[in-house]
Amino acid sequence: MNKKDYLVVGFNESRQFAKKLSKKLRVSYLEIIEKRFPDNESYLRFPKNVKGKKLIFVISLNNPDEKIVKLIFSLSTGKDLGAKKQYLVVPYMPYLRQDKRFNQGECISGKAFGELFNNSIDKLYTVDPHLHRFKGLGEVFNCASSNIKGINTISDYILKNFNDAVIIGPDIESLQWVSKLSEKTGFEKVIMLKKRFSSHKVKITTDKSAMKKIEKHKQIIVFDDIISSGTTMINIVKKLKRHGLRNINIICVHGIFANNSYERLKKLGVNKIISANTILHKSNRINLAIDIAEQLKKDFKM
Ligand code: R5P
Repeated sequence: MNKKDYLVVGFNESRQFAKKLSKKLRVSYLEIIEKRFPDNESYLRFPKNVKGKKLIFVISLNNPDEKIVKLIFSLSTGKDLGAKKQYLVVPYMPYLRQDKRFNQGECISGKAFGELFNNSIDKLYTVDPHLHRFKGLGEVFNCASSNIKGINTISDYILKNFNDAVIIGPDIESLQWVSKLSEKTGFEKVIMLKKRFSSHKVKITTDKSAMKKIEKHKQIIVFDDIISSGTTMINIVKKLKRHGLRNINIICVHGIFANNSYERLKKLGVNKIISANTILHKSNRINLAIDIAEQLKKDFKM
């Protein structure tokens, strides 16, 4: 394969991640020019000829509604301009949690979202998507897809930065990640129980033996795939602090940190708050562009 056939295509806000990826792949970077018309419609332009090229679009879809229109328009334009193949890298994939009709008449957003990409991409890449009732990305998107796991890179980070930690998962869904992190790092794990009443109300419970396990360690890492409203983490931190525990650290893959939750967690006295760079944030310490690049290199035989 010829690297000149490929272009990594980024947007203003995905520049940092897309450039990292293009550097790892040794493929040129091209940024879509974006402007706004007076009525706030999007103006988009590819600054280079992309005819016959294989385009690797990169954009993380936190705050999805602001970004989806320009992404869909850009994919459509790429095709229209004669791109040979179109790949889409979405480090953070949204809308996967509304994966069923919980109440009559609701939109199953995951499905409706997936349909937007029908026939515009050849393969989709994302990192640790929050799949719960959807068993795989194939239930959401009608193209080939790759679910890239950040677990190895996150385990390496933990091993380099902690020496006697217990890894806590907030709920049964986190077991899949926490078990692997515990296996790879050799650190003990504890899974708590979570009951969610609404976006902003959860109850975390755990038994005495779990608390005893936690107390034995000098460092605590609470791990979750996503920190969204921060409600889950804030509740756990408060619970641990009520037990007199210190040196509480938080690690997540996708740090949305809505409602000032990063600042609120800091105020509660959390030691380190670490996220992977799937969503641009000051807590980014773990670079998963490397993991995505490895998968792309394999697929493209680079
Ligand atoms: C839930 O199943 C997820 O793994 C996270 O625990 C959840 O999305 C965190 O959300 P929040 O920060 O809003 O509590």
